[in-house]
Amino acid sequence: MSEIERVGVVGAGQMGAGIAEVCARAGCDVVVVEQGGEAAEAGRERIRVSLDRAVDRGRLTGAERSAADGRLRFVTDVGELADRQLVVEAVIEDELVKADLITRIDKVLADPSAIIASNTSSIPIMKLAHGTDRPGNVIGLHFFNPVPVLPLVEVIGSLTTSPQTRERVEAFVTGTLGKQIVRAADRAGFVVNALLVPYLLAAVRMVETGRATPADVDRGMKLGCAHPMGPLELADLIGLDTVAAIAESMYAEDREPLYSPPPLLRRMVQAGLLGRKAGRGFHAYPEPGAGGG
Ligand code: 3HC
Repeated sequence: MSEIERVGVVGAGQMGAGIAEVCARAGCDVVVVEQGGEAAEAGRERIRVSLDRAVDRGRLTGAERSAADGRLRFVTDVGELADRQLVVEAVIEDELVKADLITRIDKVLADPSAIIASNTSSIPIMKLAHGTDRPGNVIGLHFFNPVPVLPLVEVIGSLTTSPQTRERVEAFVTGTLGKQIVRAADRAGFVVNALLVPYLLAAVRMVETGRATPADVDRGMKLGCAHPMGPLELADLIGLDTVAAIAESMYAEDREPLYSPPPLLRRMVQAGLLGRKAGRGFHAYPEPGAGGG
């Protein structure tokens, strides 16, 4: 089976933009699909800022930056994914939205061996695969934020994912993208979020019950445990709506009370205090969207 060189990414938010960037930097031809021109332009800008940062830090030459930029094409029609060998969807963490999108991508892809990957953080891959005509070619590829920085990708096969699909995407992630993989069972939260999310929710509960301020919770984990970010800064980076959605999926699967989003988190989402991208979450950010990947 041919090596993956033509990639599609649907969604150019912080995760989708990061995935598109690493694929383009690795030499792939990348088509990025967004819902409208404005969202596509915002995604393009996100990637340009990140590429410029890589040049400033000496991680990329000017020529490599231009080459990566030249490999990215932004479109607003899923139909333009027809010739792709791999499409990664990175839209909002909503099962119905993702399932509907994956069904549409399935209909568009011309090559029966083309693979559809979901960057879902917590939705079981089986639920996304079963509406397609290619359940053997649907797999989870879960990247971490900021995608250009963090080396891990979780690979999640469902009950119906074929061994060929697993081998092909693992070769792509490790060989082409140069990232490292962890294989996870198709259980909500996979490996990393199953451990991370209860920790983030516990930090929210500490603030909710008045045990400590957000600043002190974060200082505690950075200074006491050498974490690069405190849990509330990290929740703000991920997006509080995304954290709540992941927690809901995990709670729906296991009914584990520690996965249930605390009322304070729900209220903050309802108030639009979504973290960095909104300019305010547990902390305030003078430049909304800064640093998200
Ligand atoms: N995009 C691209 N590159 C970035 C970046 C971004 N958004 N943010 C930082 N970088 C790069 C910098 O350019 C720098 O690169 P260099 O080593 O080549 O100079 C390097 O990362 C370090 O950045 P800084 O010196 O500016 O800042 P820090 O040292 O404070 O690191 C951080 C920033 C990388 C975000 C670090 O704080 C960190 O790793 N935080 C934890 C992030 C984390 O846990 N992510 C996982 C979230 S969970 C998830 O994504 C799963 C999902 O399902 C929820």
